[in-house]
Amino acid sequence: MFKKAFLLLLALTLTILTLTACNSTESELYAQQKQEEQSSQTEELDPAISPEPNNGTLPESEIEDNFLLEIGEATKETIAYKDTESVAVLVNKQNSLPADYVPSDLVYVDIPFTFSEKVEKRMMRKEAAEKLEELFVAAKEENVVLYGVSGYRSYQTQKSLFAYFVQRDGSEEKANQISARPGESEHQTGLAMDVSCQSVNFGLNENFGDTAEYAWLKDNAHHFGYIVRYQKGKEHITGYSYEPWHLRYVGVELATALYEQDLTYEEYLFLKI
Ligand code: DAL
Ligand code: ZN
Repeated sequence: MFKKAFLLLLALTLTILTLTACNSTESELYAQQKQEEQSSQTEELDPAISPEPNNGTLPESEIEDNFLLEIGEATKETIAYKDTESVAVLVNKQNSLPADYVPSDLVYVDIPFTFSEKVEKRMMRKEAAEKLEELFVAAKEENVVLYGVSGYRSYQTQKSLFAYFVQRDGSEEKANQISARPGESEHQTGLAMDVSCQSVNFGLNENFGDTAEYAWLKDNAHHFGYIVRYQKGKEHITGYSYEPWHLRYVGVELATALYEQDLTYEEYLFLKI
């Protein structure tokens, strides 16, 4: 009888002890959790690690942005992109040429053309013309036969051409996707030449971009100072549709930099790279 009562008492004691131990574990966990919550709140509120700028310093991401912007500015400063005499002149929808601008050193380019008349579109500025002649010879040596389609255009010619496209396409906005407004065409600089080849019937259309002639140009034009100015996928930057046929002379050094970095001229000058 005494033994039975002892065992009962023992079992009861053990039960109480176990329950107390569980409670204490639970309350410890709760306290730990509470402490973690509080400490994470403290982190968020700690000014030393707050996302807000403090002590005059910027978060790392912003420092990087500012630094990259300075690189863009530096590039811009070293290139005479506003100088109409420079072969690096930037002409686009934001940077136009005066209506009376005519390059002073236009010459007839000695390459095969798709037409026979001796008209202004056979002309380019001297340096650009000489380098284009070199390019055509080098291409021909590799059985790449190119033809000139349209080089220099005066402000007046561009005005008539743009008016034609507005009429044809129904609005200035539509026309301006493929044709520059007068003053905004690189053709007025005497540094641009549209080219084509026989397999696309000497046409200026996207099919030229699928030819062996274009494939050669894309990877070799920079050796002669030329870039393919209006590339596929960069329409939102250049402001124009893909024009695989439109070559622009910028000089060998700049053309090579643009080619190697796969950048449009706008990106090279102004974007954070
Ligand atoms: N087609 C190009 C954008 C021009 O008109 O100059
Ligand atoms: Zn063109």
